[in-house]
Amino acid sequence: MADLSTTYMGLHLKNPLIVGSSGLSAEFEDIVELAKHEPGAIVLKSLFEEEIIYEMQQDMLQMTARPYLYPETFDYMDSELRKDRIRDYLELIQKVKNTLSVPIIASINCVSDQKWTYLAKEIELAGADGLELNLFILPSDLSRSAQEMEELYFSIIRKVRQATNLPIAVKISYYFNNLAQFIKKLSEENIEAIVLFNRFYSPDIDLERFEITTGNVLSTPGEISLPLRWIAMMSGRINCDIAASTGVTSGYNMAKLILAGATATQVVSELYRGGFVKIRLMLKELESWMEKHKFSSLADFRGKMAQTESVDPAAYERVQFMKHFSNFIRYNP
Ligand SMILES: Cc1cc2nc3c(=O)[nH]c(=O)nc-3n(C[C@H](O)[C@H](O)[C@H](O)COP(=O)(O)O)c2cc1C
Repeated sequence: MADLSTTYMGLHLKNPLIVGSSGLSAEFEDIVELAKHEPGAIVLKSLFEEEIIYEMQQDMLQMTARPYLYPETFDYMDSELRKDRIRDYLELIQKVKNTLSVPIIASINCVSDQKWTYLAKEIELAGADGLELNLFILPSDLSRSAQEMEELYFSIIRKVRQATNLPIAVKISYYFNNLAQFIKKLSEENIEAIVLFNRFYSPDIDLERFEITTGNVLSTPGEISLPLRWIAMMSGRINCDIAASTGVTSGYNMAKLILAGATATQVVSELYRGGFVKIRLMLKELESWMEKHKFSSLADFRGKMAQTESVDPAAYERVQFMKHFSNFIRYNP
């Protein structure tokens, strides 16, 4: 039998299938259920900086209708609400860690380096095995330069690093000026892993109702090409582990991403679509592919198809449909 174990963020994982952060890992009962299917690790639903702020604002709006409101009351509400949301999250980590042996990675979605970074220590004390920072600042601010935006990422990471000894993974998007250089610089920040890439809620327009609706919530298998390209290009060139996220829908896709250089792969959409049983099915697919190709461990083939190892390194940088596809492109009724 092939050995599927791997080391990710310094954690020993039974296998490279990590349940990614989503509503699937928000509740204790669901996490227990997920663990029965033996994934390598589980990333908890993110604690959202905006979510906390939103809750606070709602309460403040209600309170402004009251005549006895003083600025201090705002301050009080601030900290009380904060404590509730955070306390629930820390209790969840404690309860899950007291019940299960699967590695648990907490997750924080953050857009600033203010106020919240002390939480990293609390998360460590609650017993989490690692911390994933889901960092995304939509690059739509006309008044801030690309460099200013990037600085914020580094500032957040440094503050969190100071606060905790937990292994840190940073989950990012692909909206950067020079993505390769940015990923390289991130990896030099004393973090243990980078997750490529987050996938976002996307707006759509309802043509009849003139409403903004939700775009494709779940990914499709073809979307693997985005992380595949970048993992293949960055593998062997950066100082930390890489986990793949987006389009990991089968054991075969997992094999491709590991060939490209991923240490682990995160799955969300496929579990929403096919249920938690998909975890074992995907691992079975990976194992049978390994056996077919006589690989006894992940180390036997990890990074074998990375750009640095490839016989055709330019293939990962090809972006235009030029002569290679000229026959395909020609209209042929
Ligand atoms: C319903 C839903 C909720 C999600 N919530 C989070 C979240 O709280 N934090 C996070 O980092 N990513 C979140 N994600 C993104 C996933 O972790 C993952 O990066 C993305 O869905 C791509 O992986 P997939 O192709 O396997 O779905 C969410 C995704 C979905 C579909």
